[in-house]
Amino acid sequence: MRIIKASDYNEMSRCAANIIAAQITLKPDSVLGLATGSTPIGTYKLLVKGYQQGNLDFSKVKSVNLDEYCGLDGSHDQSYRYFMNTNLFNHVNIDMANTNVPNGIATDLEQECKRYDRLIEELGGVDLQLLGIGHNGHIGFNEPNEFFDKTTHVVDLKQSTIDANSRFFEKIEDVPKRASTMGIKSIMSAKKVLLVAGADKKDIIERALFGPITPQVPASVLQFHNDLIVVVSEK
Ligand code: F6R
Repeated sequence: MRIIKASDYNEMSRCAANIIAAQITLKPDSVLGLATGSTPIGTYKLLVKGYQQGNLDFSKVKSVNLDEYCGLDGSHDQSYRYFMNTNLFNHVNIDMANTNVPNGIATDLEQECKRYDRLIEELGGVDLQLLGIGHNGHIGFNEPNEFFDKTTHVVDLKQSTIDANSRFFEKIEDVPKRASTMGIKSIMSAKKVLLVAGADKKDIIERALFGPITPQVPASVLQFHNDLIVVVSEK
């Protein structure tokens, strides 16, 4: 595990963007596992800038996102598909057909989860997985649990996650109660994992990276990953 302590959010974003840019430069047809949330927004801004300045080419990149709310169509402004389009995909030369987000409105969500796992397998797995972390230690939407969920599955979101995400919705009742998420096995199978965390995540980062490995702190499983980079912001 490599831990990079960035002085602030901007430096954290710069470090993370540089690592992703290096991945794309070394392997232009990389499969990127992508995350949403507040933390990676600065990273995506810098990747867009890198593309606009002619330093990055996304034309062969493929992407798989970690998760999506159940019940939200990709055109809903709080869906993770919308987030990815507006924060990254619409501003770089990635082929939209090569971008993947679980379908939150699939009629059969179980089948959709299976399709998503098959897709990741067909792509040859994830080369670099970008992750944020929830205050309760969730990664993707793998919430604290009695066991580690392996593959893509539908989860009931914890009240703490619903509360945390309500800042993006008009009313708390509008926050979806369920989400589809890649499982711990899919995340752990990524060749490289890049976890970004702001200063507000100091406590949970400490527990996840140096505490006991337990499904009660899903991110703690990352201690087993042999190519984990954590970029934490000091303030
Ligand atoms: C989002 C995701 C979540 C977030 C986590 C932290 O795709 O997978 O695990 O990374 O909830 O969110 P922020 O960055 O908003 O604190």
